[in-house]
Amino acid sequence: AISPLRTITLTFFANFVMLVTGFSICMNSSWRLTLLALSILMPVVHISKTFSAWASRQNATQYTYVADAQGAAVQGLTNIRTVRAFGGRDIEVERYERQMTKAQRLRLQTAWMQGFSGLLSSLVEFGASFMILYYGGHLALGHSFEVGSIISFTYLWNRLSSAVRNLTDNINQPIRAASAGQRVFEILDLQPDIPEEIGDSLPSDVAEIGVEFQGVRFTYQRRPDIRILQGLDLTVAPGKTTALCGKSGCGKSTVTKLLMRFYDPISGTVLVNGRALKDLHVLNFRAMMGIVSQDTQLFNATVADNITYGMRESTYTMEDIHRAARSANADEFIRALPEGYRTMCGESGHDFSGGQKQRISIARALVRRPRLLLLDEATSALDAENEALVQEALDKMMAEVRGACTILVIAHRLSTIKTADRIVVLHEGEKVEEGTHDELLKIKDGRYATMIARQLHGGKDVEAEEKQGGTDEGSTSSGAAPLDFSKLDASDVMNMTKDQRQRLKEEFRNL
Ligand SMILES: Nc1ncnc2c1ncn2[C@@H]1O[C@H](COP(=O)(O)OP(=O)(O)O)[C@@H](O)[C@H]1O
Ligand SMILES: [Mg+2]
Repeated sequence: AISPLRTITLTFFANFVMLVTGFSICMNSSWRLTLLALSILMPVVHISKTFSAWASRQNATQYTYVADAQGAAVQGLTNIRTVRAFGGRDIEVERYERQMTKAQRLRLQTAWMQGFSGLLSSLVEFGASFMILYYGGHLALGHSFEVGSIISFTYLWNRLSSAVRNLTDNINQPIRAASAGQRVFEILDLQPDIPEEIGDSLPSDVAEIGVEFQGVRFTYQRRPDIRILQGLDLTVAPGKTTALCGKSGCGKSTVTKLLMRFYDPISGTVLVNGRALKDLHVLNFRAMMGIVSQDTQLFNATVADNITYGMRESTYTMEDIHRAARSANADEFIRALPEGYRTMCGESGHDFSGGQKQRISIARALVRRPRLLLLDEATSALDAENEALVQEALDKMMAEVRGACTILVIAHRLSTIKTADRIVVLHEGEKVEEGTHDELLKIKDGRYATMIARQLHGGKDVEAEEKQGGTDEGSTSSGAAPLDFSKLDASDVMNMTKDQRQRLKEEFRNL
């Protein structure tokens, strides 16, 4: 294929030669006719230049509208559950339509103008031909010009004017391409804040991974005024199980995000086997981790592909998948599916229950033979029945990898916390207590002891207690405080009064 640059140069050259030779021949045959025709050609060039400048501005605006519409569509679709649960369908559709209508209006305008400017140019050009014939005839009658030359002059002149127009296009095209390309290159040149593919790898046969947080301070970029971690010191001993507990919102999940290096601390260091996490090859390090969190996302792929998501095909066998699924108490229900391990997941696939998703997620964590296992409230979003099933799978998994794998577990179940080698209690981003279950229980009026006492007393688990507190707070301040959408789920919405639902809708509209 010929490169676009070469095409442009060649046509430019051809047009240029056409222009120069054509112009000198015309001048030579009659300078008066040439000047006349030239004075008419200039407006044509001017019109088309003005129009194309205007049109490219229109186009740019139109693209931003289309991009906005697409952004709205993507957002609406990725949050489809929230959109449906909160009755936001019409809002989302309207948002999309509004942007698309704007784009459509602009496109129509441009099309009309394009037709109009084309018409104008043709009129002026026809006018030029007419003037040439008229004035040329006049000259021929006066014997200062041959009749035959009028025909060849007109022909030549038409070629000449199209050469002029092509030439302006020739010059504009690369300019337009360059300005469009500039944005593309800008995007290509963007570097993520956290480089994922440079740095040293831990040896692939590293047996155990120990983690240490040293004076880690952290705030989320979006809310720089709220300190999440305030100089946290935390040790996750290699090969041991460390439990992290504390009120909801105290920063437990943030610890796991920092450990996966989704973010960097503002100050302080995260050490992995004594080396700064910042110096490690992030992707390699993450490949050594298994993660089970509260909300598992399944992709539009088969169950097997979801379990091995992100792994290279050469690194596992079908038997590995089955073994991981068995350990996760998932093998049985997967085999009972219409297409077994080849059943499709995701939005358009099989409808898995929350408990089934969590068990697939546990299999996903296990199949990569993790050296470090992060379990972040894996059962907190489940109903009692599913919770029992997943808890059983978790216990089985933890017993299986115990000693061979470092575990950081964030749990709201006393049974899970109790058996940990070490328990760390967080409060407002700081470590307030640390020790074994028995040691912590001995602290008089300690946070852990209070929490456990409350749990045993009420027969509820820690998190449920906290949740209870949370909603109470929420309802007393239901006046102006903005709702935290991430904290609400569908059942909350179902149980809302009409008033609350209206408020929710309004907030949603303001997003
Ligand atoms: N992406 C984010 N942007 C801004 N604030 C966040 C983000 N994620 C969590 N937070 C806030 O950080 C605090 C700690 O959150 P998190 O670590 O998830 O708590 P926990 O897991 O202990 O419940 C909360 O106040 C939460 O609202
Ligand atoms: Mg959390």
